[in-house]
Amino acid sequence: MAQLGTPEHPLRVAIVGSGPSGFYAADPLLKSEIACAIDMYDRLPTPFGLVRGGVAPDHPKIRTVTKVYEKIAEKEGFRFLGNVMIGRDLSVAELRQHYDMILFSCGAETDRRLGVPGEDLPGSHTATSFVGWYNGHPDYRNLDFDLSADTAVIIGVGNVAMDVARILAKTPDELKETDIAQHALDALAASRVKTIYVVGRRGAAQAAFTTPEIKEMGELHDCVPAIAPEELELDAVSQQEETEERNVARNMEIMRGYVGRDGGEKSRRMHFRFLLSPKELRGSGRVESIVLEKNRLEGDAPFQLKARSTGACEEIPCGLVFRSIGYKGIEIPGVPFDAQRGVFPNVAGRITENGTVVPGLYAAGWIKRGPSGIIGTNKPDSLETAKNMLEDAAMIAPCAERDPLAIDRLLAGRGVRVVDLAGWNKIDAAEIARGQAVGKPRERFTSIAEMLAVLG
Ligand SMILES: Cc1cc2nc3c(=O)[nH]c(=O)nc-3n(C[C@H](O)[C@H](O)[C@H](O)COP(=O)(O)OP(=O)(O)OC[C@H]3O[C@@H](n4cnc5c(N)ncnc54)[C@H](O)[C@@H]3O)c2cc1C
Ligand SMILES: NC(=O)c1ccc[n+]([C@@H]2O[C@H](COP(=O)([O-])OP(=O)(O)OC[C@H]3O[C@@H](n4cnc5c(N)ncnc54)[C@H](OP(=O)(O)O)[C@@H]3O)[C@@H](O)[C@H]2O)c1
Repeated sequence: MAQLGTPEHPLRVAIVGSGPSGFYAADPLLKSEIACAIDMYDRLPTPFGLVRGGVAPDHPKIRTVTKVYEKIAEKEGFRFLGNVMIGRDLSVAELRQHYDMILFSCGAETDRRLGVPGEDLPGSHTATSFVGWYNGHPDYRNLDFDLSADTAVIIGVGNVAMDVARILAKTPDELKETDIAQHALDALAASRVKTIYVVGRRGAAQAAFTTPEIKEMGELHDCVPAIAPEELELDAVSQQEETEERNVARNMEIMRGYVGRDGGEKSRRMHFRFLLSPKELRGSGRVESIVLEKNRLEGDAPFQLKARSTGACEEIPCGLVFRSIGYKGIEIPGVPFDAQRGVFPNVAGRITENGTVVPGLYAAGWIKRGPSGIIGTNKPDSLETAKNMLEDAAMIAPCAERDPLAIDRLLAGRGVRVVDLAGWNKIDAAEIARGQAVGKPRERFTSIAEMLAVLG
């Protein structure tokens, strides 16, 4: 076999997952002097991962990052194979026959569990499902969110919790010109939720949300943020955190501005509560209340404080609970998996099994480091992995099947309808046209069948 990485014998790379981390890894590989032929797979016919299915519809500017990914996708040596799920339509063993290297950038698609009684009562939802539902993700389109309750409690104070709280708090007028899925807009328009609690297990200074997100809560048309002054009293270590970290100081400043804020005519209220952990969700047949345990902070070192229960409890009557305590990666058969952390174990992106590097398998993004970080965080993370892939290229054992179209034949033989870049562009254009007809930037197709129907 001639040397890999030449135009005649490019390094054949499969990228599993077309979210930010997949694209940020594809870019340096395609720019490298080592010639690469990249096939990027996604289980959906649509690319861009959480930029399409996670980012809130009322934050359209953030979604424009897809322009960068579109440019990468146009480069020579890049192919998109949408509607192909690795682990279902193709096994990892099969990928290994067709590619010299496989990079997993498949994100963290499920949710972490609270592990408290009543967690699965009707009316208790994961943020993952609510976010997927309002964004029209095919996995969640058939869910039914009963928003007839007066009170909703959101567990967690990260940016996803902020998205969930804001979408619940906004009026139909604030959402109708976004690309929110129509089924969600209709349900939210009929929502009777008036009181929203956002609950953090640690203190206000340890809230994971960022300043623009908490600031936005003060600018909602029909909802006023409410914080009791005692929620913002800080112990000595938290005060140190406020002094040392700008995001903490700015968050605290914004929250102090919410103390005693008069909502005027506004009909909704969003209460921020801290140092409370869920102990139990109660209700006969569906959620009727949540029992929260009062915490205190433990530890001497800034940014390492832990929540410890004081034993005291309070009960908040509510008909809805949203658990927004973080996402979790899913196992793909044939790839080592750390079930505890929900990641593919790796050293700087090289996947390991029992501490030993598995040649040819790599990870980037949330499946590499866990579900944290904004879109931009994935860029250096993916670059690290891509650099290591290029470094390993000279030592890698070439795959057996080098015909680039052999995989297409295999998929066609299985009846898998692959959606390529041209196919996605058609779906994209059709969604935009549907949106224009109703004054929205896009009206998404929420089922794979609808998407494929566009392709004829
Ligand atoms: C609700 C939410 C809102 C967010 N909002 C923002 C924001 O406003 N701004 C910001 O900067 N960051 C935001 N983030 C963070 C940002 O979305 C992530 O940092 C980023 O998407 C992680 O990228 P990733 O490529 O690792 O995973 P993902 O974006 O999740 O991409 C993974 C891709 O892999 C595909 N896939 C999974 N399994 C398979 C398989 N077996 N076979 C084939 N394909 C598969 C999925 O379909 C998906 O397309 C948000 C995150 C969430 C959860
Ligand atoms: N607009 C944006 O830029 C945007 C929007 C959405 C998401 N994102 C990014 O996407 C990433 C993921 O966001 P995320 O909100 O899912 O995660 P996150 O930022 O890690 O926040 C998770 C929250 O859940 C809490 N939590 C975890 N386990 C808990 C438990 N057992 N009981 C009670 N609370 C618990 C955490 O508290 P502790 O701190 O005590 O652990 C934290 O408040 C973040 O990096 C975020 O910034 C960005």
